[in-house]
Parts: sequence; structure tokens; C-alpha cells
Amino acid sequence: MQTIGVIGAGQMGTGIAQTIAQNGMKVLISDLDLAHAEAGKAKIDKALTKLVGRGKLEADQAEGILAKITPVADYSPMQDASLIIEAATEREEIKQSIFEAAGKMLAKDAVMASNTSSIPITRMANYSPDPERFIGLHFFNPVPVMGLIEVIPGLATAQSTTDQITAFAEGLGKQVVLSQDEPGFVVNRILLPMINESIFVLGQSTAGIVDIDKGCRLGLNHPMGPLELADFVGLDTCLDIIRVLYKTTRDTKYRPAPLLVKYVEAGWLGRKTGRGFYDYTGEAPVPTR
Ligand code: 3HC
Repeated sequence: MQTIGVIGAGQMGTGIAQTIAQNGMKVLISDLDLAHAEAGKAKIDKALTKLVGRGKLEADQAEGILAKITPVADYSPMQDASLIIEAATEREEIKQSIFEAAGKMLAKDAVMASNTSSIPITRMANYSPDPERFIGLHFFNPVPVMGLIEVIPGLATAQSTTDQITAFAEGLGKQVVLSQDEPGFVVNRILLPMINESIFVLGQSTAGIVDIDKGCRLGLNHPMGPLELADFVGLDTCLDIIRVLYKTTRDTKYRPAPLLVKYVEAGWLGRKTGRGFYDYTGEAPVPTR
């Protein structure tokens, strides 16, 4: 049975680990320390229990999926992995130290992938032991539900690596979009300006939170309005991505909305902190403006 290493036990890392285990592979999951990795596995347990409760999964299937996921204290067990996927915080210096440390454990023919949403793959490949075996593998949240994975080869990525990782992504039951290594790749390059613009619309009082979201839900048939989606993704993550787009292109169309910056400075980061454009501390989300 194939073993995959997942580094980062947050929202994306746990979703990735769950999806891989659901598709019959073993997963080693790591984070800052063993306690964080174990907390990640507990989150997956909770998600699976919810699915069992809704009759979407049998209890023994959930147990089987969980049994395939092993939290690890450091990267050394990942020497058995055929693929290591980094899904840590969207900060280049953090990712660099992960690629350098985990790279020491990367098996001879194994591939290292980053779930970055916007940092250039070609540049990060240099932090790994072999740029030919380094690639972008961008999942969407919630990973077990969303049908897409973007595959992003860097300049030095070997075609055999791209082929192998595309087959891996399709083996997870996802469809693949191949993107050049350009800022934001395909989907975030389109999504983040929309989210950012919706925050300008709010900041200029053109409409309130409820109407902006209602407009996009009903007028565009999106499952969530842009402000709900921003809270779901995390306002800090949205700001990080739009800043990368702005910094790398120097195109002012990507300048962050001042209200987004303010919310992040206030620590109102969306669902994960209980408050963003909506307040999540009660039964149902309540708009905050
Ligand atoms: N594992 C497996 N299945 C799960 C699950 C999990 N952890 N969580 C939920 N599901 C399943 C549910 O069982 C349900 O299945 P069903 O349709 O067969 O009944 C289905 O997913 C929908 O779940 P819910 O009923 O709980 O929720 P909703 O119907 O309200 O949908 C949503 C929730 C799927 C999040 C929907 O609102 C949506 O699609 N929102 C937009 C999400 C989006 O745009 N994501 C992309 C963000 S951008 C990104 O990730 C890129 C990054 O770089 C920023």
C-alpha cells in the first residue's frame, strides 16, 4: 500500500489526509509537534463521525479510514513515502524550512509537492533536494468534497513528475487542471480579485454583507457569496494571496481592500476565529455590519 506524507494538520492538511486515506492509501501526518498532528487526526475523526451520523459512511469504514492515518512527531518516518505533500501556513519562509528539513527524508524516487495557493513553484523547488521531483498540487477546501486539483509544474519539474502527480490526483477521484507557474495559478487568480472587490463594495457601502452575498448566490448561482467564502477560506489567507498577486505583478488591480487589511489586523479572520464578516459564535452565522 502506498504511503503519503502530509505536512500541516490544519484545515487543508487534514482534508488532504482524509481524502488520501479514503482512497486506500496510508498517510503520515505531521505538524509543529505530535500534539498538533494528533489534534489534526481528531478533526478528521470528527468529520468522519459526522458522515456516519448522516448515513453517508458505515462506522467500520470510518474506522478503516482513520486506521490508515498516523500522526508523526517528525519527518523521519516519511522516508517510506512515495510523495510528501506540504500543506503548511502560506508563508514562504515556513515552507522553505519544511522543504529543507523534510527534503532530507525524501526517498530517491519520491516526489515533493506543495499545496501553496500562490507562491511560485519554480522558486520553492530550489528549497527541495531535487527540483525535477518538485511540483505544485493545489487542493480546494473542503478537500473531501471539492472536485478539482490544480497541478502546477515549475520550470525544472520533470514531465515524469507531472504525469505521476496527475495520475495520483485523478486516483483521488478529482479532476485536474494543469496550470503554468504564474501568480495565483488559474482559480485563485480569478477568485481572489472577486473576493477583494466584494470587500471594496462593502467598504464603500454600496451594499451590506447580506446583499453582497445574496447577490452572488442568486445572481451568479454560487454556493456561497464572496464574503461568506472569504470567511470560509480565512481572511488572513485571502490577504496573503492577494498580496502575493499584487507584489509579483505590481498591478494595482490586485491592491488589497483596506477593510480586508483592517479585519486581519483586528484578528477577525473568519470562521476559524469565530468572527469575520459574520459572527459564528451562535447557532447560525450573523452578519457583523
Ligand atoms: N468529508 C466528506 N464529505 C463531506 C465532508 C467531509 N469532511 N464535509 C461535507 N461533506 C459532504 C456532505 O456529506 C454533503 O454530501 P451530500 O451532498 O452527498 O449530502 C456535501 O459534502 C455538502 O456538505 P453540507 O451539506 O454540510 O454543506 P453544504 O451543502 O452547505 O455545502 C460547501 C458546503 C460544500 C462548503 C458549499 O457551500 C460550497 O461548495 N462552498 C464553496 C466552497 C468553495 O468555493 N471552495 C473553494 C475555496 S478556494 C480554495 O480552497 C483555494 C484556496 O487556495 C484558497
